[in-house]
Amino acid sequence: MAIPTIDFSKLNGKERAKTLAHIANACEEWGFFQLVNHGIPEELLDRVKKVSSEFYEMEREENFKNSKVVNLLDEIGESLESLDWEDVITFLDDNEWPSGTPGFQETMKEYGFQLKKLAEKVMEVMDENLGLPKGYIKMAFNDGEGENAFFGTKVSHYPPCPHPERVNGLRAYTNAGGVILLFQDDKVGGLQILKDGQWIDVQPLPNTIVINTGDQIEVLSNGRYKSTWHRVLSSTEGNRRSIASFYNPSLKATIAPAPQLVEKTHQEVEQIYPRFVFGDYISVYVQQKFLPKEPRFQAVRAM
Ligand SMILES: [Fe+2]
Repeated sequence: MAIPTIDFSKLNGKERAKTLAHIANACEEWGFFQLVNHGIPEELLDRVKKVSSEFYEMEREENFKNSKVVNLLDEIGESLESLDWEDVITFLDDNEWPSGTPGFQETMKEYGFQLKKLAEKVMEVMDENLGLPKGYIKMAFNDGEGENAFFGTKVSHYPPCPHPERVNGLRAYTNAGGVILLFQDDKVGGLQILKDGQWIDVQPLPNTIVINTGDQIEVLSNGRYKSTWHRVLSSTEGNRRSIASFYNPSLKATIAPAPQLVEKTHQEVEQIYPRFVFGDYISVYVQQKFLPKEPRFQAVRAM
C-alpha cells in the first residue's frame, strides 16, 4: 500500500474532474498525498537540497553531536520515550537567519515564497472539493482579507542513529495547523503514516512535494478531512533531510466547521468540533502535541 500520488498539472486540462476527485479521495481517506508536476522548478529544489545539507554540516552537526538526545542514548541503555532523534530549526520570513551558509537565506526565502503560493492553490482545490466558496479556507486562516496567516518552514535532519530501536526520529503526532507541504529526502525514508491501524511508509520520490492536512483542516471541514497521525523512524543509515512548510491560521483567527458542512440535523446537537481562536488551540497543543487530538478540541471548547 502506498499513499496517493497526484499529477497537479492535470488540474489544467481534460483530466481536471478526475484529478479533483483523486485529490478529494486522498484528503478523505489518507490525509496525505504526494504531488508531482507541482510547478516548483527542479532547479530551485536542487538548490534547496544543496544549501540545507551545507547548513546542517556547517552550522548544526556539531551541536547535534553534543545534544541531550545523543548523550542520553549513549548513557542510558533503555528507550527514550520523550525525545526525538532530530535536528530541527524553524524559519519565518522575518526571523534572524543563520549567516554561516552561503546562499541559505536567499534560497530558503525564494522557496518559502513559492511554497506559500502552492499551499494557496492546494487550499483552493480543497475549497472546490468541499463545495465551499473559492478562497474560503485562505480567508478563514487569514482572519479575513490580508496576509495574516502563519507561514513558516522547518528544516529537519535525522542523522544516523546507533540504536534506532530505542528512539524515534520524531514521535507520532498530528499537525496542529492547516496545510503542510513537505519536501523530503530523495533516498532516506523513515516517514510513516497511520492508516487503518497500520503504519505505512511515505516512499521517497525525487522532487515531489508531500501534502498533509493538520487539525485545523479537520475542524474547518467538520471532520470530512482528518488530520493523520504520522511519525519518523530513526535509522542507522543515512541522514534524512526533511523540509516542512506550514500554512497555518493566524493566532487571532477564529476556526470553526464551515456552516455549509454542518448538516442541519446536527446543528441542534453538540458539534464534535468547537469554535475557538487558533492561538488558544496552540497553547493547548504545545503541551499535548504527542497525545490524541480529541482532548485538545475539548480543552479549547472550554476556553
Ligand atoms: Fe507533520
